[in-house]
Amino acid sequence: MDKKSLVSISDLSKEEIVGLLNRAAEFEKNPNQRILEGKVVATLFFEPSTRTRLSFETAVNRLGGRVIGFSDAKTSSQSKGETLKDTIMMVSNYADVIVMRHHLEGAARYASEISPVPIVNAGDGANQHPSQTMLDLYSIYKTQGTLDNQVITMVGDLKYGRTVHSLLEAMHFWNPRFNFVACDELKMPDKYKKFCDKHGIKYHETTEFSQEVINETDILYMTRVQGERFTDVLEYERTKSLYTLHNEMLANSKPNLKVLHPLPRITEIDQDVDDNPKAYFFQQAKNGLYARQAILCRALGIE
Ligand code: CP
Repeated sequence: MDKKSLVSISDLSKEEIVGLLNRAAEFEKNPNQRILEGKVVATLFFEPSTRTRLSFETAVNRLGGRVIGFSDAKTSSQSKGETLKDTIMMVSNYADVIVMRHHLEGAARYASEISPVPIVNAGDGANQHPSQTMLDLYSIYKTQGTLDNQVITMVGDLKYGRTVHSLLEAMHFWNPRFNFVACDELKMPDKYKKFCDKHGIKYHETTEFSQEVINETDILYMTRVQGERFTDVLEYERTKSLYTLHNEMLANSKPNLKVLHPLPRITEIDQDVDDNPKAYFFQQAKNGLYARQAILCRALGIE
């Protein structure tokens, strides 16, 4: 794999993550610079997106580069049967870096192995979403003043939610403690619990979204049940709205607690939370612009 690609958060060392966070902080102070002039970034979204695609494209526009791509694979020649390999080979003729979201786990890794230009994974199935993790880390650092020793409570779809998988892996550098709140059908996969065991990370698994869990939490990471990943519609209907955060549930929470959500939200966070100063999910999405400016510069080798 090209060393400038970003396929999985585990491709990055602790030092590289810290470097990207510092770079994001610089971009937040000055997001409009013409350092991507002459560069073309392709955004290939085989799955729907609002934040990831638009923040990547805004990142390019604010840095003076150009964007090509598609937001709906039906408008590409994939709909005529073109393979992913051929699509990547064609687009790499035109662009300096490819940002790609795909429904298949491993699609970004495969693309990075065949592509002459760097690939940035904008989400591959239920697997990884490393650029989301960079903005999550940036959001945690900005609001807590540190990444160390955080109690992080992940709620909702921990099986198919790629953002929680990437975040869990990234946080192992900073001694987190996790609460995993999910129903039995959507609990954290064994693979990630084994990862915690291997790295000496403590976690508590529960089906109860209790006041006790909320009150010991620093980062409350709510997630949407990923309806698009289910093969059993009835299972989705049964599990889609089991956990909802209401404003009154934050009444005795820690003063530093912040509510994060990768968004979109459906029923996981009631709108009565939005005006609570502990709600941080809209600023979190804004941080994606700066994190993605940093990621694109890394991919393009721009210091
Ligand atoms: N968080 C996230 O990936 O949002 P989008 O699906 O809107 O890109």
